[in-house]
Amino acid sequence: MTGPLPRGSVRRQDQMGETMQNVERRSMRERWEEAHADARFRPAYPHEQVVRWTFRTLDRRAASTTKVLDLGCGAGRHAVFFAHQGFDVHACDISATGIAYLQSLTERLGITIQTHQTPGHDLSHYGDKSFDAVLCFGVMYYMSIDQAGQMIREVYRILKTGGKFLCVTRNDGDGRRQHAIFLGRCTWHITALAAEVASHVETGMDMLFFSKSDIEEIFRGRFDVCIDRMTYLHHDFADDDWVISATKIEV
Ligand SMILES: C[S@@+](CC[C@H](N)C(=O)[O-])C[C@H]1O[C@@H](n2cnc3c(N)ncnc32)[C@H](O)[C@@H]1O
Repeated sequence: MTGPLPRGSVRRQDQMGETMQNVERRSMRERWEEAHADARFRPAYPHEQVVRWTFRTLDRRAASTTKVLDLGCGAGRHAVFFAHQGFDVHACDISATGIAYLQSLTERLGITIQTHQTPGHDLSHYGDKSFDAVLCFGVMYYMSIDQAGQMIREVYRILKTGGKFLCVTRNDGDGRRQHAIFLGRCTWHITALAAEVASHVETGMDMLFFSKSDIEEIFRGRFDVCIDRMTYLHHDFADDDWVISATKIEV
């Protein structure tokens, strides 16, 4: 696997050819198994949006009876944050390596987090209306559009009525999309050129980028949503995400 390029440098498409072919052959799960073995994919601190949502939205006085799922937990920075706040924390991810790292972390920190390895569109391990809150941070765009829709339905199923859902996912202003190839509804292929600005794990991936109306459509009828935008500008590139704070409504 090649490392990320320094900002401003250009790697030509033909130089990337062989690497791209190798990268493209690997399944999404294999990519994440590799990525999680790399310390760069194990951020230690919770994102400020998650901290803000937790303090604004969840009742920390009832933390021990508030069940929270970190969906696509990775190395578990948010699950650990929830556990430190006293919540009843569950975490799942497609990657066995990510889950194993989180399990070792819980032992080291002396905290309890129930983990489960599964793709985010299959939450059959969890019961109907069993969670008070679900977080899905930086995960949905790695799914196919059908899997993303299925994940939203699954989150709806496992949330209690009035349950909270924070979903952070890329929008159509994100810099990766600029040189990516359009494949179909919300779906783009990250080329070598687009990968100049993306993480190396994303090279050759198909990725979802949503417009605001796409998000409204996906959540409509199931959730009350507040859609915020989070943009980080680097000198010639933007990391651009929707921050969707949703509440389950009974239909
Ligand atoms: C960018 S990391 C974010 C991890 C974590 N949410 C965080 O904020 O630190 C993306 C995570 O999504 C996981 N992932 C990718 N595709 C997935 C899928 N279809 N279902 C569940 N997890 C998935 C990866 O294994 C990885 O842990």
